[in-house]
Amino acid sequence: MAVLVTGGAGYIGSHMVLELLDAGEQVVILDNLSTGFRWAVPEAAALVVGDVGDQDLVSKVIEEHGVDSILHFAARIVVPESVTDPLGYYFNNTVKTRALIETAVRAGIKNFVFSSTAAVYGNADMPLLSEDMPLSPINPYGRSKLMSEWMLQDAHVAHGLRYAILRYFNVAGADPKGRSGQSTPQATHLIKVAAQAALGQRPYLDVFGTDYETSDGTCVRDYIQVNDLARAHLVALRSLREGGDCAVMNCGYGHGASVLEVVDVVKKVSGVDFEVRLSPRRPGDPAQLVAKVDRIRSLGWQPQHDNLMEIVDQALRWERTLMGRIAA
Ligand SMILES: NC(=O)c1ccc[n+]([C@@H]2O[C@H](COP(=O)([O-])OP(=O)(O)OC[C@H]3O[C@@H](n4cnc5c(N)ncnc54)[C@H](O)[C@@H]3O)[C@@H](O)[C@H]2O)c1
Repeated sequence: MAVLVTGGAGYIGSHMVLELLDAGEQVVILDNLSTGFRWAVPEAAALVVGDVGDQDLVSKVIEEHGVDSILHFAARIVVPESVTDPLGYYFNNTVKTRALIETAVRAGIKNFVFSSTAAVYGNADMPLLSEDMPLSPINPYGRSKLMSEWMLQDAHVAHGLRYAILRYFNVAGADPKGRSGQSTPQATHLIKVAAQAALGQRPYLDVFGTDYETSDGTCVRDYIQVNDLARAHLVALRSLREGGDCAVMNCGYGHGASVLEVVDVVKKVSGVDFEVRLSPRRPGDPAQLVAKVDRIRSLGWQPQHDNLMEIVDQALRWERTLMGRIAA
């Protein structure tokens, strides 16, 4: 049986594809290449260029490739953009996910793993966020994802579609073998942006807010390395295939680093003392987002890259690869 990876030409999806291929799975990718890259798709995976909302196409792909499980990464992911274009976000992330779930149910798909986000927790200022906390996303992106979670859970009850919902915290780093990385030029992820500043791709780095109630006043986030995250999906998929319970699971390391700590590590690893500008808080940034991770760990998931220096080194290497690609 094959696994269908939607958004498999994007940052996290492309690492997932590598992980699945390394594990001996057959993989078919569906991606409309809106933010993904054809070159991010390894030869061993089939790529279908198209939209997850295209039910005829998805049905055909499922039948032709003998798909039993769907890993659904395809989405738009930029929070400020979701505020200015909420209907675009609800269309792409929620309406099209509804279509995909319906196609999956009709085709008899057994397992569905969904990319959700810590953004569903909203402004919950707690030391550790657990999956059972009340959810109150504060932007359209988070709401577009929470509605998808609900649809999946309801489709499970009504139609038996088995699901794992993974709520990612801050995803970072790049494949240690150098096969993929975060390639979106306008990405807003702190570690990528800091790596770009270190390599002269940006003139300076903004730090938003230095008066939070944290050890150094800057926001604290739980950074999870992208291959570790991909392996969490593999573990969740195996559990579903073996009859394990459907579940909602945080994906992080259970400890955080502040913005200034990350900046220090990027300066140390790169050897570049790039300019840092201390700016006022941005609206909607909680002081601290750190995951409680007992659930995903209870499935046997063990991080292999829980080391900020290593993650930053991977990000810097990948940024250099991209610079070489542009120069060539
Ligand atoms: N990057 C993070 O830190 C983070 C954190 C939490 C959750 N997530 C979730 O992880 C998933 C992947 O994010 P990413 O960082 O890899 O983003 P990305 O933009 O690199 O990848 C998304 C991929 O989906 C494709 N896509 C988008 N809409 C599509 C559609 N309608 N049909 C077909 N393909 C479509 C894009 O072309 C792209 O290849 C998303 O669902 C996102 O919400 C990401």
